[in-house]
Amino acid sequence: MKSEILALLREGMGRENAQGGSQEYISGQELCSRFGVSRTAIWKVMNQLKEEGYEIEAVQNKGYRLKASPDVMGENEIQSRFANRGEGHWAGCRLMYFPETGSTNIDAKKAAEEGAPEGTLVVTDCQNTGRGRRGRSWSSPRGCNLYFTLLLRPDCKPEQACMLTLVMALAAAEAVAELGVAAGIKWPNDIVAHGKKVCGILTEMSAEPDYIHYVVIGCGINVNQMDFPEEIRATATSLALEKGERITRSALLLSIMEHFEKAYDTFQETWDLTALLPAYHSYLLNKDARVRVLDPKGEFCGTARGINKTGELLVEKEDGELTRVYAGEVSVRGIYGYV
Ligand code: BTN
Repeated sequence: MKSEILALLREGMGRENAQGGSQEYISGQELCSRFGVSRTAIWKVMNQLKEEGYEIEAVQNKGYRLKASPDVMGENEIQSRFANRGEGHWAGCRLMYFPETGSTNIDAKKAAEEGAPEGTLVVTDCQNTGRGRRGRSWSSPRGCNLYFTLLLRPDCKPEQACMLTLVMALAAAEAVAELGVAAGIKWPNDIVAHGKKVCGILTEMSAEPDYIHYVVIGCGINVNQMDFPEEIRATATSLALEKGERITRSALLLSIMEHFEKAYDTFQETWDLTALLPAYHSYLLNKDARVRVLDPKGEFCGTARGINKTGELLVEKEDGELTRVYAGEVSVRGIYGYV
């Protein structure tokens, strides 16, 4: 009932005000009849919500109004936002929220092994063993960032599913752009603002040579973190630092899920990136930039010309030859820095 009441407080408000609050009141009587409970029961829920950090105004003869919804994370907060989406949404159809966990990718893989459906979304407020690409760790402090993993069961070949990491990068870039933060994609899937990373994506798959059991796409976004450990201070930033104001994580999560659903629909038409190329290229920071390709078979420099429909980076070497660089094998760095 709590997440439904929260959804109702948000519903009908037209646009959220700057504090994530509502302009309209919902009467206590209406809530009582909707849920078939007493006024005291509704009053208790309102008090619980206040304790969780929501600012709720109660005015006689008008009812309750959500004055401000600070950056709270939790099952009620996320469910209430997802409940207001309308019909036809599937990303987040099953929500698994943990106040704290090891790694949402590990949780999602376990859920997948136990038969969880496509669209299952694992979200946490803090990871103790957050994992990054290439065996690195992902710093995951409590109370400020987004850490989530989406479970998919795509009906395609394993090599096609590798492109899903770029599809998520596009969705995240679109959602971040809507916040008014100037950020772009560093191929294949880092979101970068002013040369520093704000988001990383780790995609893992369980498959046989020609059959995919499941894919999990884990996404870590530095949202409201204001300071970073010494070892990543030079290369990491957050959306709040870039924008100069705090961002509501649950709203950003919802936005990413909506962008992902659209991009995934497009992706499924051809099971490649053909129709997503213009959008992906519009965010690609390495496009027409000088890059150094750290290929284990031999490093080389060139100019990145964009990606092809399978997500490989096209790099024009000094002699004019166009080479295709596959993300799984190599890293790409800018000549003068990270991008
Ligand atoms: C990278 O190295 O750039 C990828 C980082 C991915 C981090 C996210 S946070 C949510 C999910 N759970 C993890 O353990 N890792 C991913």
